[in-house]
Amino acid sequence: MATEPRVCIITGGASGIGLATAERLLAEGWRTALFDRDEAAIARASAQLAAHGESVSFQALDITDEAAAEAAVERAEARLGPLKGLVNSAGIGRDTPFFETTPAMFRQIHEINVIGTFIVSKSVAGRMRRTGGGSIVNIASVAGIPGNIGRSAYGSSKGAVIALSKTMAVELGRVGIRVNAIAPGPIETPLVQTVHTPALRQEWHDRVILRRYGTAEEVAEANVFLLDEAKSSYVTGQVLAVDGGFTAGGLMGLDREA
Ligand code: NAI
Repeated sequence: MATEPRVCIITGGASGIGLATAERLLAEGWRTALFDRDEAAIARASAQLAAHGESVSFQALDITDEAAAEAAVERAEARLGPLKGLVNSAGIGRDTPFFETTPAMFRQIHEINVIGTFIVSKSVAGRMRRTGGGSIVNIASVAGIPGNIGRSAYGSSKGAVIALSKTMAVELGRVGIRVNAIAPGPIETPLVQTVHTPALRQEWHDRVILRRYGTAEEVAEANVFLLDEAKSSYVTGQVLAVDGGFTAGGLMGLDREA
């Protein structure tokens, strides 16, 4: 018996972790709808994924626009089929000292990282509720767990994403929707290339147990696990750190032999 392909929406799908997740899901037979506000990145992603034909769709969307998000989700479902997955990967980051952080910066980061995640999740979950449930993965950050310098706006937004994910898990579990968060450590993506200075890179290397940056593909694998009902059907409300051990480590003994 042929099974219907599963459908997943990925916000921030034209770059970094979102794009790598799309590639992995397409390889596993999912259909994917990629939403991103960056039209040039969409054009590049569309060329990169051209071989997948009708299984992938692209929509220019700013996730903070509620009406546009609702219309984009509706179009994706009409085109690809009932939604079984959502990855909220769209986000922005900054490294700005507390005293230089303005309310405008703080609002912009929270508007995208938290409220945008809420807006798309609400639209998708409303449809999943009617079509038998699904799985939502919110991309948080290790910056939302311990305190990190320069991250008052970003870290607090990601802490909010973690709390939102747990609250959604509690409320949506009863309608068959699992919700989890992934907290990536330093991942080599276009976002990091704009935010991480050489000194900051050295500091990450010294504090990550595995002593390297992660790849977008390594986060994508965790996304696939949490999206797939056959792999993670009893997992909800969790925060999975894909961080090379950053949040588990303490004294690192950098001057000692292995
Ligand atoms: P990226 O910059 O490569 O991709 C993010 C995408 O989100 C971009 O294509 C961008 O256009 C899109 N986007 C931003 N604001 C948007 C909006 N308002 N509406 C629609 N699309 C929007 O970055 P990356 O690294 O793939 O980041 C993905 C997620 O992972 C983000 O939420 C980020 O905070 C999180 N993260 C990344 C880490 C890293 O080291 N790269 C570490 C921890 C978390």
